[in-house]
Amino acid sequence: MDRAKVEAFLQKFVGFASGATTIGLLAVADRSGLSAYLGEHGSGTAEDVAQGARLDPRYTREILSGLAAAEVVEYDADTGVFTLPPEHALFLSSDVSPYFMGGWLDMLPLVMSQIEGVATATVHGGGVGFEEFGPSFIKGIDRGNGPSQRVFLTKKWLPAVNSLTDRLEEGIRVADVGCGSGTAAILIAQAFPNAEVTGFDISDDSIAIARSRSEDIANVEFQGYSVEDIPTEPGFDLITTFDVIHDLADPMAGLKRIREALRPDGVYLMMEPNASSYLENNLDDRGALIYGISALHCMTQSLARDGAGLGAAWGSEIAEQMAGEAGFSTFEKLDAITNSFSAFYALRA
Ligand SMILES: C[S@@+](CC[C@H](N)C(=O)[O-])C[C@H]1O[C@@H](n2cnc3c(N)ncnc32)[C@H](O)[C@@H]1O
Repeated sequence: MDRAKVEAFLQKFVGFASGATTIGLLAVADRSGLSAYLGEHGSGTAEDVAQGARLDPRYTREILSGLAAAEVVEYDADTGVFTLPPEHALFLSSDVSPYFMGGWLDMLPLVMSQIEGVATATVHGGGVGFEEFGPSFIKGIDRGNGPSQRVFLTKKWLPAVNSLTDRLEEGIRVADVGCGSGTAAILIAQAFPNAEVTGFDISDDSIAIARSRSEDIANVEFQGYSVEDIPTEPGFDLITTFDVIHDLADPMAGLKRIREALRPDGVYLMMEPNASSYLENNLDDRGALIYGISALHCMTQSLARDGAGLGAAWGSEIAEQMAGEAGFSTFEKLDAITNSFSAFYALRA
């Protein structure tokens, strides 16, 4: 037995455990208003923060202490002052920042709450259905994906596709498939009033939220269709999916239907987790996060519907191969807008 290896793994495990408890503290700070207060006021002693944010002083001191040890906030031992640096506040308290991680603080506790079901499925097969994660999960997806969509979708992502914004300005038919609570479809409709935008999603709860958010926007509508049933006539000039294909029960049927619904000169913009199809290229923290969230949510909810369980780390190599099989003639990775979390691809008929 290599004693040094045991010690090294002990340190690693402490890192896993403290990462999990830090996420728990951040979720409490998010819900209680502590993060919002620190984002606005920057710093204070535990007593000042508790008073200003109207929180219980004992909890406030314990939570701030844990966040200081985790290097989320800085602590000055001479003055007892805790400070949330503005660079960290971008992640925790500003939902207009593309770095805002509030959605993860909704989703990760819900994902962890389904461990029993995933363990049962690991023994017997099957999975934990999307609805089992509860209505708050839909809010979490929107808080997770919405901030970057609000900042980048119409200003960076769509302009990265050749001549697309000119066509959107003239007025084309757009479908956002797996639209969730509608943020992307609404943003496109608002930025391009001549475009006709339809959001499709299998989740009735998501469609209800999307409809309620868009009552006064004339050029967007939402339909509770599964991707295999989206209308192919008169077709769409732009189809988008943001974090959807790997969640589908039948991803190949979904890609084929999107191909059929795309007009001959149309473009399909697909955003998926940025991973390789080969495990050996994903052996880092990002890979651990993608496989983890996949096993505990994305893959299990697909398997719960007797689906393929493609997994969030299906990766760009398999994506290209499946796109070819689904009938797309070109598959282009958009490197200019691909980031460490998400890869973007433009596919043409
Ligand atoms: C991770 S969420 C992404 C939601 C949204 N695109 C966003 O960026 O926030 C995946 C979405 O795919 C939807 N979905 C799953 N299977 C579907 C299917 N067969 N047809 C249409 N939508 C589906 C889910 O209901 C969910 O809203």
